[in-house]
Amino acid sequence: MRKIRTTLVNPLNRDRLEILGDHVISCQAGVISEKRPYDPALDSDCEDRRDCVLLPGLIDVHTHLSQYRIRGLFEPALFPWLDKHVYPAEARSSDPAYARGIAEEFFAALFAAGTTTSVIFTAPFEVSCQKAFEAASQMGARAYIGMSLMDQNCPGQLRQDTDNAIALSKDLFQRFDTASPLLRYILTPRFAVSCSSRLLSWVGSFAADNAAWIQTHLSENEEEVSFVRGAFKTGTYTQVYQERGLLTPRSIFAHAIHLGEAEMGILASHRCKLAYCPDSNFFLKSGEFPYRDISLHGIDIGIGSDVAAGTTPNMLYHAKMANFRQSAHPLLPARLIWHLTLGNAALLGLEDRIGSLERGKEADFILLNLPKPLDGENDLASELCFCGHEYQLRETVIAGRTVFLSSGLSSPRHHGLT
Ligand code: GUN
Ligand code: ZN
Repeated sequence: MRKIRTTLVNPLNRDRLEILGDHVISCQAGVISEKRPYDPALDSDCEDRRDCVLLPGLIDVHTHLSQYRIRGLFEPALFPWLDKHVYPAEARSSDPAYARGIAEEFFAALFAAGTTTSVIFTAPFEVSCQKAFEAASQMGARAYIGMSLMDQNCPGQLRQDTDNAIALSKDLFQRFDTASPLLRYILTPRFAVSCSSRLLSWVGSFAADNAAWIQTHLSENEEEVSFVRGAFKTGTYTQVYQERGLLTPRSIFAHAIHLGEAEMGILASHRCKLAYCPDSNFFLKSGEFPYRDISLHGIDIGIGSDVAAGTTPNMLYHAKMANFRQSAHPLLPARLIWHLTLGNAALLGLEDRIGSLERGKEADFILLNLPKPLDGENDLASELCFCGHEYQLRETVIAGRTVFLSSGLSSPRHHGLT
């Protein structure tokens, strides 16, 4: 049993956030057991963390584990960046020791940034994916992890034989999709450029038969869109996935920047999920995610870091970028915090388990040290969205287990706190 006295930041819905000053939150056996105002008669035994603020664990719906070490290596567009930096870096993950090392480094970095749940591409090798699952399991991460599929238009070191890629995906799905309550397998065709029609069709039919999750990239870059339309001889990029059964309510499409109205209608009618990755869109000059139009179509949007085109795993930084990258549609703080927590949880079908601070939900939360005493609570959400990435993280907890604890932040630093 753990009992913490602090300020709670809790999303209620997409536009409403509650900020609960001087509350107590308790958890037992990995679950939130109580949330209520501090009561001196009952709470002499709680941890006093009034120097902190407590939020639900942050969720990243799109990231690439095997790219963690190439963050910040710039090329001004998707294809040259993939060729020059990404593919050579991912090729290194065919080595088991390298794959294990980068997986441990990646999860440690997520925890140190307050990310408790993530949706992950690994390099296109079984060992890369397996080491990611092993590290996630031992370190206590909550994650959806998939081996990238690519059987064409890529360097020979990465190119998979189609039948082998299918056999490995089936095997990884069977080994990992239900092996742990915190982990799932996600089918991961990299993008239509690097996948044959047969491979994509297999993904569509296996997903339908097994209620499997799918992740891929869609319409990130204009050159990519033209390439796909030419290669598959179709009108739109979305149609390539539609015709092969990839449009499902459990499919996450990253970027979706260069979409026509008809494509948005199709994605909406299949209840597909989109991952908005604003920092990546800035970095690779991909364009601006049409947040407003997509929302008006009723399509669910999540926010992803897209490391390594995204420069950091810190989701509070990506909240700020999500606001900055919309030139005419201001995303407000309550919406941004909802996206990183309850919104991203709902995108993954996990809203009954995580994403907000409610009794009965699993205890995924973070404690951030406040840089100054709270001056009322009204501005806290805004400060978190625009400066929160600079706050020192004190602790990250997943299903009640502490996976990150900062050293050297033991006692309240602010004067005036008793
Ligand atoms: N499209 C295909 N692969 C990738 C990738 O690794 N990162 C990004 N941002 N886009 C992609
Ligand atoms: Zn990506």
